[in-house]
Amino acid sequence: MCGIVAYIGEREVYPLLIKGLKRLEYRGYDSAGIALFNGSLNVYKRKGKVKDLEEFAEGKNLKGNTGMGHTRWATHGEPDDINAHPHLSGNGNLAIIHNGIIENYALLKATLEKEGHVFKSETDTEVLIHFIEEIKEKSNVELEEALRIALDKVIGAYAIVIMDKDHPGRLIAARKGSPLVVGLGDGEYFLASDATPIVEYTKNVVYLKDQEIAILDMNDGLTIKTINNEIQTPFVQQLDLEIEKLEKGGYDHYMLKEIFEQPRTIADCMRGRLNVSKSMVKVGGLKEYQNRIINADKITIAACGTSWIAGLIGEYLIEDLARMPVEVEYASEFRYRNPVIGEKDVIVAISQSGETADTLAALGLAKQKGALTYGICNVVGSSMARETHSGSYIHAGPEIGVASTKAFTGQVALLTLMALNIAHLRGTISQSEYQQLISELSKIPDKVQKVLESNGKIRYIAEIFKDTANALYLGRGYNFPIALEGALKLKEISYIHAEGYPAAEMKHGPIALIDENMPVVVIATNKSAHEKIVSNIQEVKARKGKVLAIVTEGDEIISGIADYTIEIPDTAEPLTPLLSVIPLQLLAYHIALMRGCNVDQPRNLAKSVTVE
Ligand code: AGP
Repeated sequence: MCGIVAYIGEREVYPLLIKGLKRLEYRGYDSAGIALFNGSLNVYKRKGKVKDLEEFAEGKNLKGNTGMGHTRWATHGEPDDINAHPHLSGNGNLAIIHNGIIENYALLKATLEKEGHVFKSETDTEVLIHFIEEIKEKSNVELEEALRIALDKVIGAYAIVIMDKDHPGRLIAARKGSPLVVGLGDGEYFLASDATPIVEYTKNVVYLKDQEIAILDMNDGLTIKTINNEIQTPFVQQLDLEIEKLEKGGYDHYMLKEIFEQPRTIADCMRGRLNVSKSMVKVGGLKEYQNRIINADKITIAACGTSWIAGLIGEYLIEDLARMPVEVEYASEFRYRNPVIGEKDVIVAISQSGETADTLAALGLAKQKGALTYGICNVVGSSMARETHSGSYIHAGPEIGVASTKAFTGQVALLTLMALNIAHLRGTISQSEYQQLISELSKIPDKVQKVLESNGKIRYIAEIFKDTANALYLGRGYNFPIALEGALKLKEISYIHAEGYPAAEMKHGPIALIDENMPVVVIATNKSAHEKIVSNIQEVKARKGKVLAIVTEGDEIISGIADYTIEIPDTAEPLTPLLSVIPLQLLAYHIALMRGCNVDQPRNLAKSVTVE
């Protein structure tokens, strides 16, 4: 949610900022802007994508070795040229870029207006830089001191970078609740929302902590302080990120590349955790707190969006295999509804980015109440990884497409491994079922590869459904969350209204929507309730609905009734979500493309939702 990149050193800064902004564009893409020092402090900003900014900047004086850039996901004020970042202070001496929300901006703005400040934009960010300027001028203090005083009075979340006309060789940054990474080069420094703009220049990074201020100075180097002015020793970490993984690698879109990477990413998630020859599952993160986890009163899974849907599959898996009570919560609701959490509870937070504000807040709350916190995330070094007692990475590699695909299957694979590990420790699974699931799990990457071979057929079916205004997705048991995920994928990238429902629940309402124009996608691979799902399909057909069924290879019964079918290989029922979701990802991708939508950067969305 908003991308930040900044640089100070000997390089020409403009190309570096543009390249960095393109890497960060997945975080927000409604406007972009840069500020550069070249004699004076110049700001160029534009509504639209980074390429619109590039066009606008053509022919301008873009020389300079210090600068910062921002790509925006609008919170306060519509996406336009004026609300785009950077924003200048009243006297034009300070420029700021910001990711987050200043919640008390309205009060600050009213107070500043009384002091004569005039605002050009509707943003909370412009208020913050005026506020800092006001303190600096009125109290006659240095920028750093003014920043500290201001941040002490600000409510909300921020990652900010400030440039000061009087100090062209210096950048000042601060964070609270929104991520910021400092890159340490040879006589040069980088700042960014994540490591992707930094990795090709240096592998040495420092992740700023909440309430820390970083001063990057060409003469004095890097200084990190808390907002209470206590000097901190920077903890330098080595990035484990390959630049090739950030490119499209010959695919038209990141989303397609990420869908096709799944055989490998699922295998990477299981590597070192699933041992087929010894028939054993071991999830490292569980070890340290093993007794607390297997004896917990209950497990609560908190997450948002697709990660929440993965959590729902986690509930089915853990309850089914490990026989422990599990609740799945939208993090945004959980944090505000005074939930009952005890010291014998375990909170599992799931997040691809590890930076989702609501999920981090839910974790914070659980920690406060004494629960054990466990994080499942993809981005190494993210806030979630640092703020939980224990956890596991899914090792899916950078996911750039805003619609989550390979992170979802990574989360589900990890939850499957956790459920098996806990079930085995608790003795709630028979040795034969344990061995059978391990063996089946090891075959999943190859079976995903096989599903991907249906891409051509799925594209053909997409052509038939692409003009629909609505779609219904139905599934039972382990496939109910897949119905939700299929519907979410379709709506977020193609803007078609889609709903996921438990198949049997359809008759309690959504059945009223069915007519000859309503495509109904039924995820019908269930063995345990096969005849029930057949009845559900018959009910749709009786009302002239058009049925696309995802079926197990060789299922002639459903293939005989559905209008279209896509086959997936047979597997153990608890593992079907890992296969049945793949055709739905591809279906959404092709439909969105045929409708002319931007599949990697759908409107109004951002990859990392760091605001409430
Ligand atoms: C997925 O396709 C979405 N774009 C979105 O729902 C996402 O899963 C959600 O915002 C949670 O993000 P996280 O996994 O990074 O916490």
